[in-house]
Amino acid sequence: MQPMTQTAPSASALPPEIARRRTFAIISHPDAGKTTLTEKFLLFGGAIQMAGQVRAKGEARRTRSDFMQMEKDRGISVSASAMSFEYGTYRFNLVDTPGHSDFSEDTYRTLTAVDAAVMVIDGAKGVESQTQKLFEVCRLRDLPILTFCNKMDRESRDTFEIIDEIQENLAIDVTPASWPIGVGRDFLGCYDILHDRLELMDRADRNRVAESISINGLDDPKLADHIPAPMLAKLREEVEMARELMPTFDHKAVLEGTMTPIWFGSAINSFGVKELMDGIAQFGPEPQTQSASPRNIAADEKKVMGFVFKVQANMDPKHRDRVAFVRLASGHFERGMKLTHVRTKKPMAITNPVLFLASDRELAEEAWAGDIMGIPNHGQLRIGDTLTEGEAISVTGIPSFAPELLQNVRAGDPMKAKHLEKALMQFAEEGAAKVFKPSIGSGFIVGVVGALQFEVLASRIELEYGLPVRFEPSQFTSARWVTGPKDKVEAFVKANPQHISTDHDGDVVFLTRLQWDIDRVLRDHPELTLSATKEMV
Ligand code: G4P
Repeated sequence: MQPMTQTAPSASALPPEIARRRTFAIISHPDAGKTTLTEKFLLFGGAIQMAGQVRAKGEARRTRSDFMQMEKDRGISVSASAMSFEYGTYRFNLVDTPGHSDFSEDTYRTLTAVDAAVMVIDGAKGVESQTQKLFEVCRLRDLPILTFCNKMDRESRDTFEIIDEIQENLAIDVTPASWPIGVGRDFLGCYDILHDRLELMDRADRNRVAESISINGLDDPKLADHIPAPMLAKLREEVEMARELMPTFDHKAVLEGTMTPIWFGSAINSFGVKELMDGIAQFGPEPQTQSASPRNIAADEKKVMGFVFKVQANMDPKHRDRVAFVRLASGHFERGMKLTHVRTKKPMAITNPVLFLASDRELAEEAWAGDIMGIPNHGQLRIGDTLTEGEAISVTGIPSFAPELLQNVRAGDPMKAKHLEKALMQFAEEGAAKVFKPSIGSGFIVGVVGALQFEVLASRIELEYGLPVRFEPSQFTSARWVTGPKDKVEAFVKANPQHISTDHDGDVVFLTRLQWDIDRVLRDHPELTLSATKEMV
C-alpha cells in the first residue's frame, strides 16, 4: 500500500527524525471498533502480516489467567501499551488507552503522553458517554482530534445528524474530510473531499485497501461509471450542502483543537483507514512542547528529557519487573545513556529500554522526542517522574484523581497480611489505586475511581501474588490529603486518630464520611489544607 504522503513536511522547524513522529491515542466508547482499527493500523504499518493477529495473541495470553478471563468476559482492555510502527516516511507511536470508564485514571494519564487523539465513533450510535468523557480530557489539553466514524457498512445514522451531534455535544467544529456514499448494505465507499477522489470499498476482501479513483470534482462524468444515478445525485446534493453549511478544513484550527476533520469508514473492511492514517501523517501534529516547571521543554532541544506517564507492574509475572512508560519530550536518546532521575537527583543508567513494536518488545537502541520507551526498573520510577541529562526540571500536568470509592481490603489468610501490604504498595505506585493505612487498627483501605477497579485489583492480587483477598464496605467515603505547617499537622493527627491514615508515601490523609467533617476541619484549622488529590510528584 502506498501512503498518500511520502515525505515528512519540509516546513517543520524540527529535526527530520522528530518531525516525522506522530504520537497519538485512540479514544472511543467500548465496542466502537478501537481494537479493529488498531489492528488495521498495524497491518498497514507493516507491523503485523495478517489481521486477527493482535486478537489472536490477546486470546493466547488471556487464557493464562482469571484476571485476563475477566477482561475477556467484559470485553475491556485492562493493560495499556504502546505500539510503534512505520507508515511511509512517518513513524507512528500509538499509545493504547484502556477503554472502560472504570479505568479512566490510567486513560487520562495516557493522554498526557500523546500529541493527538483519534476519536472513533460508531456510525449508528454517535457520541457515547465514554467518548464524551475522554474528549473532554483532550479538550483540557487542546489536543488535536481526528475523528473516524466507523461501521458505515452497517445501518448508520444520517451523515448530517452525526456531524451535528459531534458539534453539539462536544462543542467543536467538524469538517468532513470524506463523505459516505450509501449506507449499510448499500455503502459503496466515500468521496474524499480533501483530495477529490473516489474511494470504493472492497467487500470481498476485508484486508484489501479500497480502490482509489482520482476524479475532477463532483461534476466529473467518471463518477457515473462507479455510482448508480440516484446515489450520485444524493452525493452531489449532500456534499454541496455540506460545503455550504460546514466549516472548510482549516489546518491551524485542527492543530489548535477547535476543529476536527471526520472520515467515514469501516475498520473491519479496512475501508477509510488508509485515508485516516494519511490524515494523521499529514495533519496530525509533530511532537509538541511539553509543559514543565520551571520551564517548558521544546521537542527540538538537544538534551534528552522524558517523563513517566504510566507504570505497569508484573508485565511478565515470572520476573516481577515493572515497566515505566516514558514519553521522550526532547532529544535523541541512545541506549546506555545516564539520565538524572530528577525527583531523587540520582543518576540512572538506562541500559535495557524497550520499544513496543506491535505486540512484541524490542531493545531500544535509540529513540527520539515523541517516542514511548519502556524502562524496566525495580520501583524507582513513578508516574510523573522526569528524567533529564542533569537539569532540575519536572514535567507538569500529569493528573491524579480523587478516589471516589473507598473499601477495606483483607487477605483471605490473615497470616499473609505482609504480602498483602507489599501487593497494595505496588499497585499504589503503579497508580492503579490509592492505598491508605489507618492509624488505628490493622488492614488497609483502598480508594479507586471506578467500582470495577476493586475487582481488577482483587484478581491481580490473587494472580500476581497468589493471595485471595476480600473487599468490604468501609465506614469512610472521602479521603483528603492534609498539608500545612509540620507542627499543626502533627497536632491535628494526634487529635483525630480515628480519621487519620497514611498513603503509600507516608503522607497524612484524613478519612471521613461526612462533608460536614471536612468543613469543620477547614473552619477549625485554617492553617491546614485538605486536598482531594495529591500531586503525582
Ligand atoms: P473496541 O475495541 O472499540 O471495543 O471494538 P472492537 O474493535 O473490538 O469492535 C467491536 C465489534 O465491532 C466487533 O464485533 C468488531 O468486529 C465490530 N466491528 C469493528 N469495526 C467494524 C466495522 O467497520 N463494521 C462492522 N460491521 N463491525 C465492526 P464483535 O462481534 O464484538 O467481535 P468479533 O466477533 O467480530 O471479534
